[in-house]
Amino acid sequence: MLGEMGMGFIKTYLAGQSRRPKGVIGKLMGKLMNKVNAQMNETTIQLLGIDDDDYVLEIGFGNGKYIAEIIERVKGTHVLGLDFSDEMVKTATKINKNSIKEGRVQIEQGEVEKIPFSNGMFDKIFTVNTIYFWSDPILGLQEIKRVLKPGGRLAITFRSKDIMSQRTSDEYDFSLFTPEAEEVQTLLKDTGFTNISNQHFSDKSIGYYCVVAEN
Ligand SMILES: C[S@@+](CC[C@H](N)C(=O)[O-])C[C@H]1O[C@@H](n2cnc3c(N)ncnc32)[C@H](O)[C@@H]1O
Repeated sequence: MLGEMGMGFIKTYLAGQSRRPKGVIGKLMGKLMNKVNAQMNETTIQLLGIDDDDYVLEIGFGNGKYIAEIIERVKGTHVLGLDFSDEMVKTATKINKNSIKEGRVQIEQGEVEKIPFSNGMFDKIFTVNTIYFWSDPILGLQEIKRVLKPGGRLAITFRSKDIMSQRTSDEYDFSLFTPEAEEVQTLLKDTGFTNISNQHFSDKSIGYYCVVAEN
C-alpha cells in the first residue's frame, strides 16, 4: 500500500496540477475539471448575465471549454482568456481555434496580478476556482478593476472555506488562499467595487460561493 508518505506525495502533486496544470496529466486535469466544476461554471455564467456583443474576460480558464460555450451561446460576444499554465494555454488555443481565426477569441498567457490588457476593456469578467492560487489577491482585484469598464460586472466563484481548508497543507510549495465569502466581499469593497452580493450554492453537498460585484 502507499502509506502516509506516498499519499502525501500524491496529494501535493494533485494540488500542484490543480494550481497550474502541466504536461499530459495537466491535460487530463483540464478534462476532469470540466466534469467536476461544471455546475460552478454554469452558475457563474448565469449570474454574470452576458449580453450580446459583450467583451468578456475569463481568468484561469482551464482547457477553455467555457470560452467556447459563451461564444456559441451569446451572439456577437468576444471572449478573452488569461491563464498562467503553458498546457492550458495550448489546449484552450486548440479548442477555440476557429473562433480565434474569426477574431472572437484571444488566449493569453499571464497572471491575474499583471493582466496584459488595456484599461476598461471588458463588460464582464469571471473566474472560477482560481482565487485560492492568487499570490496577491489585492493586486489581482486591482488589476481586474483596471481592465473592467465602469459599470462592468465581475463574478468570482470558489469553494467554501470548510472544504478548501481541508486541502491546505504545509507540504505545498505555494500557500492556498481559502477565504470566506465575506472576506472576498470586504476585499472587493476596499478595492472600490460596488453592488457587491454573495450567493451560496451546493453541488453534491459541496458548498461554494459566487460573489458578484460592479465597477
Ligand atoms: C483549478 S483550475 C480551474 C479551471 C476552471 N476555471 C474550472 O473551474 O474548472 C485553476 C486554473 O487557473 C489557472 N490559474 C491559477 N492561478 C492563476 C493566476 N494567479 N493567474 C492566472 N491563472 C491562474 C491555472 O493554470 C488553472 O488553469
